[in-house]
Amino acid sequence: MRIMAKKFVETLAICAAAMLPALAYAAETPAPPAPSEQPPYTRSEALKSIMNPHEQINDEGYVLWATCSICHQNTPDPAKEKSIRDVKLRFADDLTQICYRCHVVKMHPAGEMAQLTLTDVRSIPNHLSAPPKNIYENMRIIQKDLPTIMPVEPATGRITCATCHNPHERGVLYGRADYGADSRFRLRSAGLDICQYCHRK
Ligand code: HEC
Ligand code: HEC
Ligand code: HEC
Ligand code: HEC
Repeated sequence: MRIMAKKFVETLAICAAAMLPALAYAAETPAPPAPSEQPPYTRSEALKSIMNPHEQINDEGYVLWATCSICHQNTPDPAKEKSIRDVKLRFADDLTQICYRCHVVKMHPAGEMAQLTLTDVRSIPNHLSAPPKNIYENMRIIQKDLPTIMPVEPATGRITCATCHNPHERGVLYGRADYGADSRFRLRSAGLDICQYCHRK
């Protein structure tokens, strides 16, 4: 495996070396305008070229209201709409679809190790389901104890991506709804162990 990876890197290096004269030539001649439909080549280039919908405030501090409509059916008013029930989201009957437009994620949490350990995929817990009573009760208690929210999908009562992740930029929403925005992995626990919020020991 290691050797193969090394070979691959060597091959890449050779390719890069072969391209150098071409690059030097390109530097001398005036570059033709790049065709706009040219596809991006690396993940990081792709990420720079697509819109990041979690970037909702510009450098001058103004809210970028146009980004809201990537996920919302209209432009919400954070001063009036104070819960997941107040806003009109896209894919209301399955909110995970909003996120799946751009994110490819494995079943998680607790699904990350499945491929490494060859665990039967069926044994990965389905977190995107309606929580049983005891877990729902834990979620209720944590929302009393901490200034955060853990909204479930109004149409179905299921846990959804935004139950654990805050898709908004810090400063767009008020109060509890703002909690965890821009934290690591955008988790609503903002640095604390989010598992404990639902699985109490
Ligand atoms: C990447 C998707 C996404 C984008 C972009 C987005 N939202 Fe949301 N928004 C959601 C989801 C999902 C919910 C439901 C979960 C929640 O309440 O946070 C929500 C909920 C809300 C709520 C209710 C919050 C509460 O109190 O529970 C408000 C208000 C809101 N959004 C405003 C905005 C505004 C304003 C923008 C644009 C500046 C925006 N959203 C952009 C996905 C998004
Ligand atoms: C229009 C495309 C798009 C949509 C829709 C979208 N995202 Fe994102 N998301 C991005 C981009 C771009 C980034 C920043 C680049 C990165 O870190 O992968 C990002 C970053 C994130 C991160 C941080 C990843 C990390 O490694 O730190 C999380 C978590 C996340 N998004 C969750 C969500 C959730 C939840 C939804 C649905 C409510 C959603 N996203 C909808 C494009 C999108
Ligand atoms: C029960 C809580 C929970 C739910 C539900 C959840 N996540 Fe996560 N997510 C996490 C945690 C915790 C992490 C931090 C890394 C880890 O433990 O996997 C994470 C990490 C991520 C990341 C960054 C790491 C990566 O794999 O790129 C993205 C993006 C993400 N989640 C998107 C989503 C999307 C999209 C959904 C819905 C389909 C979702 N999450 C549902 C808890 C959750
Ligand atoms: C939003 C609430 C929520 C969060 C946060 C959460 N879980 Fe879960 N978890 C659930 C639900 C609901 C089930 C399904 C339980 C059932 O149906 O009995 C579950 C099931 C599980 C299971 C299967 C065994 C069991 O206890 O039923 C494991 C393992 C697990 N979760 C691990 C984690 C880990 C690790 C984290 C943190 C990274 C986490 N969970 C965060 C709600 C949550």
